[in-house]
Amino acid sequence: MSAVADITSLEAQARRWRDDFPLLEQKVHGHDLAYLDSAATTQKPESVISVLGKYYREENANIHRGVYALSQKATHAYEQSRKKVADFIGAKSFKEVVFVRGTTEAINLVAQSFGRVFLKEGDEILVSAMEHHSNIVPWQLVTEQTGAVLRVIPMTENGDLDQDAYAKLLSAKTKLVALCHVSNAIGTVNPIKDMIAQAHAFDVPVLIDGAQGVPHTKIDVQDLDCDFYAFSGHKMYGPTGVGVLYAKEEYLERMSPYQGGGDMILSVTFEKTTYNEIPYKFEAGTPNISGVIGLGAAIDYVSQIGMDRIASYEASLMGLAVEKLRDVDGLRFIGEPKQRAGALSFILEGIHPHDLGTILDMEGVAIRTGHHCAQPVMTFFAIPASARASFGLYNNEADIDALVSGLAKAKEVFKR
Ligand code: ALA
Repeated sequence: MSAVADITSLEAQARRWRDDFPLLEQKVHGHDLAYLDSAATTQKPESVISVLGKYYREENANIHRGVYALSQKATHAYEQSRKKVADFIGAKSFKEVVFVRGTTEAINLVAQSFGRVFLKEGDEILVSAMEHHSNIVPWQLVTEQTGAVLRVIPMTENGDLDQDAYAKLLSAKTKLVALCHVSNAIGTVNPIKDMIAQAHAFDVPVLIDGAQGVPHTKIDVQDLDCDFYAFSGHKMYGPTGVGVLYAKEEYLERMSPYQGGGDMILSVTFEKTTYNEIPYKFEAGTPNISGVIGLGAAIDYVSQIGMDRIASYEASLMGLAVEKLRDVDGLRFIGEPKQRAGALSFILEGIHPHDLGTILDMEGVAIRTGHHCAQPVMTFFAIPASARASFGLYNNEADIDALVSGLAKAKEVFKR
């Protein structure tokens, strides 16, 4: 079945999902909004928005601290979200779910807490050539602190990781592999299950940056056998300022705390502090309680639709977008990986991506332009920036058509 025929049968269900997102009803510069920047942040369904309102109207109190009913209610809702996350990603236990501010904080936590215990001079950390800055810079910081060395798994011209080079880079010196599930800049879906198995053959743990993975595919951390998996709430229809670090219990037990403060301790004297059990050892201070509860509501929302249905709808949508954009004269895809999810990157000959983004905005089309916090990817493709369209479950063919006509408009403006 062609992508076009396939999408038509799925559009009806997607139209109902789109109705769940009040923000998408608005007009921008007089046009229906075609929101194509979900890789930056997704819009929120009414169910998430109303849970946040309900929390502040009816349940707001600090957690783990009060003996009174309201505090217990908030604590219960917060801990219920932890259980939802554990079920959603297939963790063995709620103890393996640490709430953080987002993917960036999750990776920094591992870099510092794992690094302090497990890394020494000469050890190697492998990252890939397509990482977001948040899966590069935390490791550079830890190499400066420990004398460990950062090595890079290269990319092919298509935008896939070079698997032969990866196999050669793994060695007894490797102490950790840190790798994105899906590239935020070009949409490549990496074969992480195989790559994890290869690293494990050298007893090397693997951290997966799942910020762009979780929104688009069903995650089962036990099946993947990853040691760490990081993701953000706001990229999967939840609130900003909340995210998850999944980590195997054996690592969390052995890692040192990331930050010190309230709630992460059992007892404190000026001579010695003993730490709380996991995962609380890693959650210092009052957390983002409403965010965590909102994330739970986002998980309820996508689970009730079903991640498999979302993945299959988005795959059709991506197929359609590629088909239609391929017909645009002067458009060059940045990366044509074997498998793509969520995002696609391109440039339009003779028009700077920022100019393109501005013209598209005037047509009601929101895309991201720039280096997408992945400057090494831009350097690899020898471009300063690209235009990136990215999708969520609420997008449809009309959004893709709006993008395509916006590109025609841009060419008209620039008389190409
Ligand atoms: N990391 C986000 C993006 O790719 C902000 O746009």
